[in-house]
Amino acid sequence: MGPVSRAPTAIEWDVREMEKGGYEHFMLKEIHEQPQALANALRGRLLENEGATKLSGLQIEPREIAAIDRIVIAACGTSYYAGMLGRYFFEDFAYVPVEVQQAAEFRYRNPIIQANTCMIAISQSGETADTLAAVREGIRKGAMVLGVCNVVGSTIAREAGRGVYLHAGPEVGVASTKAFACQVAVLAMMAVAFGRTRRLTATDGQRLVRAIARLPDLAAQTLAQEDAIRAIARKHAKATDFFYIGRGHAYPAALEGALKLKEIAYVHAEGCHAAELKHGPIALLDAAVPVIVAAPDSPEKAKTIANMQECRARKAPVVAIATAGDAEVSDCADDVITIPACPDFLAPVPIVIAEQLFAYHSARLRGCEIDQPRNLAKSVTVE
Ligand code: G6P
Repeated sequence: MGPVSRAPTAIEWDVREMEKGGYEHFMLKEIHEQPQALANALRGRLLENEGATKLSGLQIEPREIAAIDRIVIAACGTSYYAGMLGRYFFEDFAYVPVEVQQAAEFRYRNPIIQANTCMIAISQSGETADTLAAVREGIRKGAMVLGVCNVVGSTIAREAGRGVYLHAGPEVGVASTKAFACQVAVLAMMAVAFGRTRRLTATDGQRLVRAIARLPDLAAQTLAQEDAIRAIARKHAKATDFFYIGRGHAYPAALEGALKLKEIAYVHAEGCHAAELKHGPIALLDAAVPVIVAAPDSPEKAKTIANMQECRARKAPVVAIATAGDAEVSDCADDVITIPACPDFLAPVPIVIAEQLFAYHSARLRGCEIDQPRNLAKSVTVE
């Protein structure tokens, strides 16, 4: 084989981003970078007057968007939870049926891909083996494949050919943090782009675009709760089992919160839909099992409050993640972490930031290796 010549690709990452910059761990630095990372993910992409979004990497004509009749999202880990939120966004804003699949399931089943199926592969690294295999299978079966990646020029980004970059900057900590927030922002913008072709008016679009523009500020206001979150982590530093519950958009946020605690603090944590609690997991609750309840202002809130009361009746300590000033929720909780008021579709971003800080401080109090947790890899390139 002769020499191969390739055109150089300029990577816009600054080497300073690869250093800890005064923080004790990369994870903490990356948690704190979220307002900036979100601002970078949104920059130049929100068209407020038109109530639309501009995502040039998508390279899709409105005519193609109009023809899509189904979306399949494939991803792993934290990216999968972002994908669950993506499902709500595409269904609500664009009225397209969406399926979210673990990439490993997608590759080993015989997935149904039809002429107008759009597949969205979400991967921070762009190198996860199962997600890459899902992309290849999707291409083979004739799907329109879009990548949502952070690493520019990564394999998934290249093979998908079109998609949207996060622009979150390098994520070094093994536990994904800022990439999740930016994945949610990008999926919301993609859903607005699809929605404006399919069902949203300019006024609907403007409302959504203005809300999305607030994400960096929502992140900054949540970070300001760090001292309160650390104190709550200290209170539960001896607990060996946790539950994380939520409904609606807060459900994937609960799953992600449990994953963070497992990954970093090595504590058993189970994420579960608040309504599923009474179908089994509630049997495990007692005074030694704290329940972290994601209860933002939303149409499901009253039901979530009822679930909090069920937990307290079993003497489980309840930590609520609630909208600032929400007395209804705080009255039913032992401790409250506040997030700023926002539309419920965006609440997962501040909720997950609060959960990241909780996991980080829990891990630190337990003396864990935060940036290189045992048994985990940043990018899982084997099956
Ligand atoms: C690994 C990482 C997780 C990540 C997952 C998917 O398990 O430890 O933090 O969510 O891979 O990674 P990707 O790069 O595809 O988003």
